[in-house]
Amino acid sequence: MYTLRGVSRSWQLDAVEIPALVDVTVAFAPGEATAFMGPSGSGKSTLLHVAALLDPPTRGGVWLDDREVSALGDDARSALRLRTLGFVHQTYPMMAVLTPRENVALPAIWSGTPRKAALERAGALLASVGLDSMADRDVRTLSGGQRQRVAIARALVNRPQVVFADEPTAALDSATGAAVLDVLFGAAREVGAALVLATHDASVAARADHVLHLDGGRLVPRLGVVGTGRA
Ligand SMILES: Nc1ncnc2c1ncn2[C@@H]1O[C@H](COP(=O)(O)OP(=O)(O)O)[C@@H](O)[C@H]1O
Ligand SMILES: [Mg+2]
Repeated sequence: MYTLRGVSRSWQLDAVEIPALVDVTVAFAPGEATAFMGPSGSGKSTLLHVAALLDPPTRGGVWLDDREVSALGDDARSALRLRTLGFVHQTYPMMAVLTPRENVALPAIWSGTPRKAALERAGALLASVGLDSMADRDVRTLSGGQRQRVAIARALVNRPQVVFADEPTAALDSATGAAVLDVLFGAAREVGAALVLATHDASVAARADHVLHLDGGRLVPRLGVVGTGRA
């Protein structure tokens, strides 16, 4: 189980402390999807970045089972992020000198998988997201939806326990976005990962098992949402 316990994150602006996330406690179970909703500036990206160990909490901790992983040193935290966590950003800047297959294989190669095995796994993942025929193309010829599917395959290549996705379809039209979400939810379920999404789109959140609302960095208790964990 991956948990945030009493997590706060503030930013220091001159003498003023600006709270972006306030005392958030939440658990992400394997195989389940959780969506965070809230208006712009409500703390969704901050929550995902702190949870994914890209940014340290100012209070509280992030735990993987009985380990406080946010308290690890830089090297251990990077290694854990690489092997255990996946992150799909709103848009993913791919390395144009590499093919989609090589882009997807990189995190596996970085974590010590032999190159040939990593490229094979990348090819299988690209097939599972419907990009079999694009695996060796020039990435600059890919559409936005195809790039997001490459980003999803890349986030999953090390079979992570938790996959984070920050507004993963915000840059796509709604039909392409729906297809990308099908791939993201299906792929996360297949590897048994917990999926954690940020979105301001209710139709995206409706696909998740749990929908939680943020306002001013705090979880908003709503009847029928917090408590049962279901929308
Ligand atoms: N690097 C930063 N420096 C200062 N303030 C930040 C930084 N990142 C986010 N914030 C502030 O934290 C709050 C939450 O932002 P964010 O998590 O990006 O919200 P959302 O993703 O819901 O739009 C906002 O008030 C924002 O201005
Ligand atoms: Mg955001």
